[in-house]
Amino acid sequence: MGVLSGKRIVLGVTGGVAAYKAAVLARLLLRAGVDVTVVMTASAQRFVAPASFQALTGKRVHVDLWDAQIDDGMGHIELSRGCDFVLVAPATTDFIARLAQGRADDLLGALCIARDCPLWIAPAMNRQMWLHPATVRNVQTLRGDGVNLLGPEAGPQACGEVGVGRMLEPEAIVAALEASLAASDEHRRTTPPTDAPVARLAGLDVLVTAGPTFEPIDTVRGLTNRSSGKMGYAIAAAAREAGARVTLVSGPTALAIPEGVARIDVTTACEMADAVMARAGSTDLFIAVAAVADYRVLQVAQHKLKKTGVPPVLELVENPDILASVAALPDAPFCVGFAAETEDLRANAQAKRRRKKVPLLAANLAQETFGRDDNALTLFDDAGEHSIQRDSKPVVARALLAHVARMMGR
Ligand code: CTP
Repeated sequence: MGVLSGKRIVLGVTGGVAAYKAAVLARLLLRAGVDVTVVMTASAQRFVAPASFQALTGKRVHVDLWDAQIDDGMGHIELSRGCDFVLVAPATTDFIARLAQGRADDLLGALCIARDCPLWIAPAMNRQMWLHPATVRNVQTLRGDGVNLLGPEAGPQACGEVGVGRMLEPEAIVAALEASLAASDEHRRTTPPTDAPVARLAGLDVLVTAGPTFEPIDTVRGLTNRSSGKMGYAIAAAAREAGARVTLVSGPTALAIPEGVARIDVTTACEMADAVMARAGSTDLFIAVAAVADYRVLQVAQHKLKKTGVPPVLELVENPDILASVAALPDAPFCVGFAAETEDLRANAQAKRRRKKVPLLAANLAQETFGRDDNALTLFDDAGEHSIQRDSKPVVARALLAHVARMMGR
């Protein structure tokens, strides 16, 4: 039995030429043992009749936000409840724009907003529409909202042009879903059961910072550090796995957005501070993993500095301390700090915890974590010191969240 077998999904179909391929996709999913409920937009029905999907799935196809036959008339909420994921294929330019805006004026839009499960979309459109700045912006927004994209791919298009914008073939969509589900199953299998914080953070809003910051000197150069972002990303993924709504404020990294996590990309410490402070008030748990630059350049040159023979002197000013500012809020979330030290781990970490006034500080040796896939942590809290053994960063992240969940009384 494959990883898709037994899954319940909503298959959303929007109005593009590729809508006919959604029928093939539905058949493949059904064959893989998926329970498929189809929801169509009004324009999708101009390309394919709902009766086709009804015949394939053996179930009524949903098309109307005001469908009186759905329990309590709450179709947009009911349809995605209990689902493993929602898949929209094809996803047109217009649907992507509406989703990015959070519109809920038809059944598919409303159920995407009301869902509490992952969302996958397979874009399909003309290459110019895919490259249009508005679409690029909308897709970036959706990625930041934790929406997973499948394709599009390059090739000949229905309009006769050639370029990127074709919907992935149904077989490729199924293969990508299988690969992703298999990867998250594998991820779960590596969790030590005693440390698994599964569902302990359910319903909480968690904010995580990760990665380095980059402080510009001129238009091409800057000050940064060697943080890879892997620990923060692993913590964001583990918090999502534990049932939280997770926002990841990330400095420049090459890492993929963890599934279901909303990412906000920032470059400088001040941008990170703004993104965090705007959300801190509605956060239950704040975990500051980012290696934030302590200083920024006072006068950033608006052109590339030329070599003059006289070494320049850079005047630096201190950046805001994001963690300390959040911890000092009158209604502060539970705050977890990190300390990457190169020596005197215990003394430096304890001093840092007191200085930033946080209930928990996770300390590691910079030379034993930066850029690596594994880590070991020493946690400092009011009760004393606790060790998390060296392991892969995802496993260490889960163990840390198990400790946090216990401290939060969950
Ligand atoms: N931190 C922060 N904002 C800053 C600096 C640090 O939010 N401007 C957070 C980090 O994300 C981490 C913790 O504070 O959770 C400790 O970061 P670190 O750089 O080790 O602390 P500093 O206060 O900068 O101490 P030092 O550089 O003197 O070791």
